[in-house]
Amino acid sequence: MFIELANLHKKCFPNKPWSADDFRDLKNSGCEIIMSENGFIVYRIVVDEAEIITIGVNPEMRRNGIASAMIGIIEKTLKNQGVKKIFLEVASNNIAAQKLYENSGFVRAGLRPKYYDGVDAILMSKDI
Ligand SMILES: CC(C)(COP(=O)(O)OP(=O)(O)OC[C@H]1O[C@@H](n2cnc3c(N)ncnc32)[C@H](O)[C@@H]1OP(=O)(O)O)[C@@H](O)C(=O)NCCC(=O)NCCS
Repeated sequence: MFIELANLHKKCFPNKPWSADDFRDLKNSGCEIIMSENGFIVYRIVVDEAEIITIGVNPEMRRNGIASAMIGIIEKTLKNQGVKKIFLEVASNNIAAQKLYENSGFVRAGLRPKYYDGVDAILMSKDI
């Protein structure tokens, strides 16, 4: 699973690929990972909040609702586990991801200036 994840991650983030060991470390540190043939989502729960660490969909399969579906799935699971809020950070120049999150009901909750190599991070959250 970790090798397939690394291969898919490389397609989604060609400039910053994570290795199979990176994914293994995330899992070992308590993160949850959901992977399908064309997408993955990594998140972690901290008491009654959850953070989406990353999400990616195979470039050839985008705009088919895969990312929205994965967010919907974890949202249901998290709600059942007593989580009240989901939050995440997204680069201010990543318009596709911002639209995805807005479409999924996330709202802006803050800004971390120059968080990613000089690019601002927008903090977004959703009460569930
Ligand atoms: C962001 C990403 C995960 C979206 O995956 P996806 O499966 O294509 O998203 P969906 O099909 O579920 O899109 C849902 C909505 O998000 C918005 N959206 C998604 N991609 C968009 C784009 N390129 N431009 C504008 N809006 C976009 C649209 O509103 C879309 O609904 P619509 O297709 O009905 O208009 C995908 O583009 C990706 O893997 N990008 C590279 C990795 C990345 O940036 N991850 C996020 C890091 S924070």
